[in-house]
Amino acid sequence: MAGGGIPIGPGGDKAYPGNLTLYVTFTCVVAAMGGLIFGYDIGISGGVTAMDPFLKKFFPSVYKKQSADHSTNQYSVWMLIVGRILLGFGIGFANQSVPLYLSEMAPYKYRGSLNIGFQLSITIGILVANVLNYFFNKLDGNLGWRLSLGGAVVPALIITVGSLILPETPNSMIERGNKEEARSKLRRIRGVDDIDEEFNDLIYASEESRKIEHPWRNLLQKKYRPQLTMAILIPFFQQLTGINVIMFYAPVLFKTIGFGGDASLMSAVITGTVNVLATCVSIYGVDKWGRRFLFLEGGTQMLICQVAVAIFIGIKFGVNGDPGDLPKWYAIVVVLFICIYVAGFAWSWGPLGWLVPSEIFPLEIRSAAQSINVSVNMIFTFIIAQVFLTMLCHFKFGLFLFFAFWVVVMTIFVYIFLPETKNIPIEEMVIVWKKHWFWSRFMVDVDYPNGLELSKGGDVVKKV
Ligand code: BGC
Repeated sequence: MAGGGIPIGPGGDKAYPGNLTLYVTFTCVVAAMGGLIFGYDIGISGGVTAMDPFLKKFFPSVYKKQSADHSTNQYSVWMLIVGRILLGFGIGFANQSVPLYLSEMAPYKYRGSLNIGFQLSITIGILVANVLNYFFNKLDGNLGWRLSLGGAVVPALIITVGSLILPETPNSMIERGNKEEARSKLRRIRGVDDIDEEFNDLIYASEESRKIEHPWRNLLQKKYRPQLTMAILIPFFQQLTGINVIMFYAPVLFKTIGFGGDASLMSAVITGTVNVLATCVSIYGVDKWGRRFLFLEGGTQMLICQVAVAIFIGIKFGVNGDPGDLPKWYAIVVVLFICIYVAGFAWSWGPLGWLVPSEIFPLEIRSAAQSINVSVNMIFTFIIAQVFLTMLCHFKFGLFLFFAFWVVVMTIFVYIFLPETKNIPIEEMVIVWKKHWFWSRFMVDVDYPNGLELSKGGDVVKKV
């Protein structure tokens, strides 16, 4: 029945009533802390592997090469591996659930900012780990790395307590058949009585989702092609920015370009601080300027810095890796560009790499698609961490150009293929694909969501 109808927002978005209540803010802040453990783990790894006693104990061959020490002391390595595997499970679960939880809880107009609380926690976790590494590195013997690794117990406790006090999302209550409870919870979260329209859309989404028996097989359906593509490419691109080269190897990298051991850990603290502060910029701007603007600006900024770092390192280190007499100012300029690069990532691919997937998956495929997102992210984090040093040895300064190339690819990809998702309720998200010049071809058989239709003039309107 295309034709008349009540015009609604430019994206076809309905204006669900709702405020940024204290309740939703508190809930989201607590939930977002689930990112601390992920961040702590990322930050601790780089620093700990730069600590001599750690290398001596667990990786004596590496230590021997580094210091010509001949000790072969090696035990309890299994405990370390088992501990890290368990930690990996915890992080996987947190990354799977926290971004989705935040996006389901948040009023759609503040969804970006509230969701980025997760990335903010990641960056705070990294920074705290960097600072602790800096101080623990000064302790004699094995105490330093023990404290660094054991410190993960603090964010783990925060997650445990948080998960006990956090309420379920209305979506999840409806999924479990508690409709009335969901209705009153939605009222409480939004701080208004008039939640019927949003509630009905949640019910509709839940009914649609019940029709799907095999979310995994369903993901392969044509109509989910845009979401599947994003679930794979967004985390892949996020890692191909090269950010974890900085996060894991900043101390080693800074040591290589001429800082002492202590100063190089200190520089990691500086990049960690930039990471936290720049994330706040995206919290401020993501629902105002939009996701695309941040992606495109951040991408351009990272590109310029990567090329600059490649040039600076290339000029001094050449291909034989000998910088000769490297002036201090030179190393400082390189750190400065690395900081601007980190800032670019921290307000674009960092937060948006978690936000955008969490807001584009319809309920019926949400968990399956998010687990693809998390797995791809982790697999490429792992691969880059493993091959970075080998690549550095072969590509030399060209390594930065390698990542710069990928930043060009991903920025063009966003420009052409990623529609804007700011201020669109998740339940209406299908509209952005239906209106997209490329993705619309996969969506011909998909109806407009509950109560909406396309008018003769080409606008999305409410059915009358
Ligand atoms: C990424 C991590 C990265 C971190 C840096 C996260 O969004 O997933 O791989 O280390 O940002 O802040």
